[in-house]
Amino acid sequence: MTTAKIALITGANKGIGFETARQLGAMGHTVWLGCRDQERGTQAAEDLRAGGIAAHFVQLDITDADSVRAAVAHVEAQSHHLDILINNAGIASGMGSPPSTEDIDAIRSIFDVNFFGTVRVTQAFLPLLRKAENARIVFMSSGLGSISLTGDMKAPTWGVHAMGYSASKTAINMYTAKLAKELLTEGIKVNAACPGSVATDMGGKMAPKTVEQGAVIAVRLATLGWMGPTGGFYHDAEGPSMAPYGW
Ligand SMILES: NC(=O)c1ccc[n+]([C@@H]2O[C@H](COP(=O)([O-])OP(=O)(O)OC[C@H]3O[C@@H](n4cnc5c(N)ncnc54)[C@H](OP(=O)(O)O)[C@@H]3O)[C@@H](O)[C@H]2O)c1
Repeated sequence: MTTAKIALITGANKGIGFETARQLGAMGHTVWLGCRDQERGTQAAEDLRAGGIAAHFVQLDITDADSVRAAVAHVEAQSHHLDILINNAGIASGMGSPPSTEDIDAIRSIFDVNFFGTVRVTQAFLPLLRKAENARIVFMSSGLGSISLTGDMKAPTWGVHAMGYSASKTAINMYTAKLAKELLTEGIKVNAACPGSVATDMGGKMAPKTVEQGAVIAVRLATLGWMGPTGGFYHDAEGPSMAPYGW
């Protein structure tokens, strides 16, 4: 992709989402920051504009169908189409709860955001993505959603519980694979990304990766050329390449 694109990033007022918007904006793309809180979203867009980025706030609570519908109408009225959708918004809980006792309502809340909300946003924005020439959809997944990694005793995630959060990301991985197949002949590439363990409000201060590093894989997948992959799950590798992640 060489020309300027129009991108929407959900959950973009802070953390990896904000940094993803900043990196795409710095490449010359216009970024819509989909944020559920008006004040935080407006401030984030102002911060990016102060750095010379074409950034706009759009109110977007991914669990609220009315909010999603209004966001689609707003973006359509201003931008007419969408080249890139980055489904970044997410919540996490249950890190210390074993799966035998993890609270059902908490698991349901996670799925409402991470899975149902993400699917809702993607379905709602598809008509605008179809108006673009070669749209890209990125799902911010997690290594915790990888079933193969879950069984690896040597993996740093071996001791992490968070079954509800992990399962919501496994479900998103399946949505990635299914949607990629459906959109294959339309030139729309659909991929899932694992950002690694990133120092954000969710990842905690001690996480080894910075937000700058955590956003790299989503930016790469969002700007794939026509030879790029679709229907995959990737994390960043050293240099300009991407490494496939085990499902
Ligand atoms: N940090 C890590 O180590 C890590 C590792 C693997 C995967 N991930 C994934 O990466 C993504 C970003 O994580 P992060 O670390 O940047 O988390 P974060 O700092 O907690 O940011 C999460 C973002 O999602 C937004 N959000 C939550 N619920 C929403 C909703 N219903 N509608 C719209 N926005 C909503 C939040 O908005 P508010 O500010 O309004 O709450 C916030 O902007 C998530 O999908 C996460 O699962 C993170």
